[in-house]
Amino acid sequence: MTPAFFLAILCLEVASGVLALDPRLDVEWQEWKIKYEKSYSMEEEELKRSIWENNMEMIKRHNGENGLGKDGFTMEMNGFGDMTVEEFGKKMNNIPVRIHRKGKSIRKRAVGGVFPKFVDWRKKGYVTPVQDQEYCNSCWAFAVTGAIEGQMFKKTGNLTRLSVQNLVDCSKPHGNNGCDWGDPYIGYEYVLHNGGVEAEATYPYEGREGPCRYDPKNSAAKISGFVSLPQNEDSLMAAVATIGPISAGVHVASNLFVFYKRGILHDRKCSNTTVNHVVLVVGYGSEGEETDGKKYWLVKNSWGDEWGIQGYMKIAKDQNNHCAIASYADYPIV
Ligand SMILES: *[C@@H]1O[C@H](CO)[C@@H](O)[C@H](O)[C@H]1NC(C)=O
Ligand SMILES: *[C@@H]1O[C@H](CO)[C@@H](O)[C@H](O)[C@H]1NC(C)=O
Repeated sequence: MTPAFFLAILCLEVASGVLALDPRLDVEWQEWKIKYEKSYSMEEEELKRSIWENNMEMIKRHNGENGLGKDGFTMEMNGFGDMTVEEFGKKMNNIPVRIHRKGKSIRKRAVGGVFPKFVDWRKKGYVTPVQDQEYCNSCWAFAVTGAIEGQMFKKTGNLTRLSVQNLVDCSKPHGNNGCDWGDPYIGYEYVLHNGGVEAEATYPYEGREGPCRYDPKNSAAKISGFVSLPQNEDSLMAAVATIGPISAGVHVASNLFVFYKRGILHDRKCSNTTVNHVVLVVGYGSEGEETDGKKYWLVKNSWGDEWGIQGYMKIAKDQNNHCAIASYADYPIV
């Protein structure tokens, strides 16, 4: 037996000895498993329970005795409760650093431009209900269809949910990879070159990759181009204020994001240059008094409507591009 092998066994033993489960959480654990339809093998159960307990403890600690939360936001247990940050990270959609590739600059309009203090495109009818991407890395496709849905509404007055599955199945030749990975930029390229995208009604979401079944007869929307915004929050603000919902990359850095419930997310671990998730920015605003008000971006996620504020979140705005929210923002021209 090599020393390394021996050491590995020792480590395992030590590790399993550390799993001291809290019997006071038995009922909560059973209820959580039922709610999220989890079932584990005997071997798995103990490990998953201990991860879940760690997450539970972290959430309770963050929310504090008063339940108000630290750093301006609260957290809540959800279906990701049995995952470590590392496991969650592996599921994320890392997008390589992108240079500003093309598109007209709307920055000039931002500088000195006067924009409303509050924008919420949901109130104008631009935004479809929140969906759940399930176990598929299709966040990028939800953001692309969400942005096109908004611009189609602006043009036609009809809000039609577009097919995420169409993008997942068909944008592979352009460089995306179905449920494993995707770049919204490539998603727009697909819709542009394909000459259209189907509606959710004719090509419904399945949460797993399948063969491309796009049928031009069912095309429900097309775009004539798309714009990548300059990578700063002024440009994003100008676009959100004047154009509509904008697809944007974001950095999910820690459990603070994963178990976010309400308030304005501020995560010290966030990068302001790299992103691993894609969302739809549907507005912005501020909380509190005019003088010490905290500004936020209003963001539509694709983790179901039980997550966050009915599927939405607020992320700190004008704080050095927090979580890289303005680094990968695009919108379609319809
Ligand atoms: C909206 O959609 C409906 C049904 O698809 C259609 O009959 C109607 O003409 C559309 N309205 C506009 C303004 O495009
Ligand atoms: C990232 O944050 C730092 C300060 O922490 C700031 O100096 C820098 O300009 C930010 N980068 C971007 C791209 O906004």
